[in-house]
Order: sequence, then structure tokens, then C-alpha cells
Amino acid sequence: MVVGGGGREHALAWKLAQSPQVTKIFCVPGNGGTANLAKCLNMPMLPVDVSGITRFALVQGVGLVVVGPETPLAMGLADQLREQGLPVLGPGQAGAQLEASKVWAKELMQAEGIPTAPAQVFRELAPAQRYIEQQPLPVVVKVDGLAAGKGVTVAQTHEEAMQAVQAALEGKFGNAGHQVLVESFLAGEEVSVLALTDGETLYPLLPAQDYKRLGVGDSGPNTGGMGACAPVPWMSGELLQRVEQAIFAPLLAGLKRRGIDYRGVIYAGLMVTPQGEPFVVEFNCRLGDPETQVILPLLDSCWLELSLACAEGRLGQVPPPVWKPGWAATVVMVSGGYPGEFSKGYPVRGLDLAEATGALVFHGGTRRERGQTFTDGGRVLNITGCGATLAAALEQSYAGVKQVSFTDCYYREDIGWRLRGQ
Ligand code: AMP
Ligand code: GLY
Repeated sequence: MVVGGGGREHALAWKLAQSPQVTKIFCVPGNGGTANLAKCLNMPMLPVDVSGITRFALVQGVGLVVVGPETPLAMGLADQLREQGLPVLGPGQAGAQLEASKVWAKELMQAEGIPTAPAQVFRELAPAQRYIEQQPLPVVVKVDGLAAGKGVTVAQTHEEAMQAVQAALEGKFGNAGHQVLVESFLAGEEVSVLALTDGETLYPLLPAQDYKRLGVGDSGPNTGGMGACAPVPWMSGELLQRVEQAIFAPLLAGLKRRGIDYRGVIYAGLMVTPQGEPFVVEFNCRLGDPETQVILPLLDSCWLELSLACAEGRLGQVPPPVWKPGWAATVVMVSGGYPGEFSKGYPVRGLDLAEATGALVFHGGTRRERGQTFTDGGRVLNITGCGATLAAALEQSYAGVKQVSFTDCYYREDIGWRLRGQ
């Protein structure tokens, strides 16, 4: 069973379906693309109904649950499923704090000596103001809780930082903003390093880079992700080893010390400084979207075998993931107006033609009705290309993109620009 309804979950279902041991896949709630996958059955289940999903999984005799998004994890879905004896890829509520509370994660990093930007926690305006005025610019303000990617402000002026703190403390993000972090700005190159772990063994996945901003050249507002590429060639074996030693090892020790049995994915959003030192910008308790849409197509190992071993606490007994040579790139096609207001319900044309180019079409916000696909969200489609070079992967992705059309469709033309020439 795959929980979630985005491009990440379509990619998960697509990869799981390749395992000969998989006889049936349930997607909760799934989308217009997962409905197409052989053996896939969508179930409408939103907002997250933790007990309903657990009952359904038990009745159907599900052999593995893979939870895509953070919200059900933060709500304790994995705990409930495990109480019923079901194997789950995804941490329980305690482990999900890594993403669900930036204050908790920062305190853990500070206690365990994990490199991250210095930060202070505030619950009141006046002390935050005094602190902010003393900080060099830019300065970063983060709300504590889950805020759908909108809780971080990289402020260029002290006033902007103050406004971000004020808005959060006044309730703009509800409970998520009752405390804020004010942290130093880190300069460098960003990279997403995801890893599978059962708390004992940790296998890093292929490093990926995502393109979060809406506009060309990484301009404009932050989004849930406009595209991604993997691998990241400047992320050398040596640097990856440093990430394992300086970040993942103390993190696992810290989780253990706190009595947390973590089985799932840890996503480290890293800033690598010009001196080549990796710092943690954020942890997520799940796979990235759209990173998954480039990582899984390059995975040569069986995702079912890895996930099940991880869920059952025997990851060390299966071999580490093996990767295909070459590159993958994904371009996200969004509804016009996203990440602000947008309309839904437009017919999507050209999906067959896009697939005929060899590109992989992972649906996000779509639904199927009477044999036709309609837009049903902000991030509508992820078109993934693979190739021997980054240029070839991008060419296949954009060839697929050009075949698809829907009203007010928008996508970035420059995905991969930060890695060109590598
Ligand atoms: P997210 O938590 O995914 O919304 O992250 C927001 C983005 O803000 C990150 O991807 C970084 O680009 C940026 N960011 C967050 N913290 C820092 C920091 N301390 N220094 C520089 N950039 C940051
Ligand atoms: N790609 C960013 C995220 O999944 O949070």
C-alpha cells in the first residue's frame, strides 16, 4: 500500500510494480496516474484517516505500507500500523519530529554536534527583535511546525525578518508558528541526500538536486518543487562519506539515545559551503518530491526488497542499493497561478505521445474520469527523462513535456542549469 497522491507516490507504485513478488498495489488516495498502473487500486481517503487506513490495510492483508508524505507520519500513522503488526516504511510520530518540529530537530543537531546553522528559538516578539537586530544579513526565519513549504523566510532586511516572526507568532501558520527559529544564513550549493535506515544500518540513496523556485534561474516564490536531477557529480564519494560520518552517524546515535526506533527514509537537505563542508539546512522524515521521480528510475535494485527489509529492521541483511549508470531529470508541469491560486478540472492531452518519447510520466495532481485525465492540483505532472548524460536526460524529459498540453500549463525551461557542464 502506498499512502499519498503525488508524483512521488506514482513513482513509488511504478517501481514497486516491477517486483515479481508484488501482486497488488493499493494507493491511498492515489491519482489519475496510479489508477493506470496494473494491479493498482485507488482509494479516496483524504483528509488522512489514520484508523480507516489501518483497518483497510489489515482487512486486505497488505504486506508492506510505504508512506509518502510527512503529515500522516506526523499524525502517527506508522505507529498505528505497527501496533497491528504491519511492516511500514516510515517513522513513527516520535521520529517524524525530525521534520514536524524544526526546534526539536535543531536541538537534536546541537546536542549531537551535527553541523548546522546556529539558531535561537523564540516564542515572543521583543526578544526576537533584539536578537534579529544584531544578526548579519540575510537572516533566516523558520516556523517550528509543518507549513507546506511556506514556513521559511530568507530575509534580506531586519524588517522583513521581524515581519516573518510577527506573522508566525500572531498565528499565520496556526499552531505550527507558535515558536520560531531565527538562524544564520548559510552560503553554498544545496543538495538532497536521502537515506534508508532501520536505525542500525543506513544506506544513502543517490544524491539529487531539486529546483524549488517557480521562475527561471531560481527566481520567484518557493514551490513544492519544479524539477530535479540526479546524480550530483560534485557530490564526490569522499564528500558523501563525510555526510555519513558527520551527519547520519550522530543522527542515528541521537535518535537511539532518545529511544526512537526509526525505520524509513531520512532526507537531509544540505548546504555545502564553498570550503566543501556539508551543513544541514533541514531534515525531512520521508522521500522528497520531486527527488523520488529521478532517484527511483536510476535504482537497479528491488525497492520492495529494500523497503521491506528496512520496515522489518533487517536492512543490513540485504545488499545496499545499486544504481544504473547515467542521469535522470524530471520537469514538473504545474497549473497556471501555482503556488498561488489556480483552477482545476482542465483536460490533459498528449499523455500517450509523451510516453511514446520514452519519457516516464508520473502524475501528481490529476484525476481520471470516464477515460480522460483532468488537472486536479497545482503540480500536475512530472516528466522524467533518463540518459547517458544530463543533457540527454533533459532532452528526453522536455521532449515528453512538449507533447502534453492543458489550459494555463506552466513549467520551467531551465531545469538542471546548476549542473550543466558537469
Ligand atoms: P524548506 O524548509 O524546504 O522550505 O527550505 C527552504 C529553503 O530555504 C531551503 O531549501 C534553502 O534554500 C533555504 N534555507 C533554509 N535555511 C537556510 C539557511 N540557514 N541558510 C541559507 N538558506 C536556507
Ligand atoms: N523536494 C523537497 C521536498 O520534498 O521537501
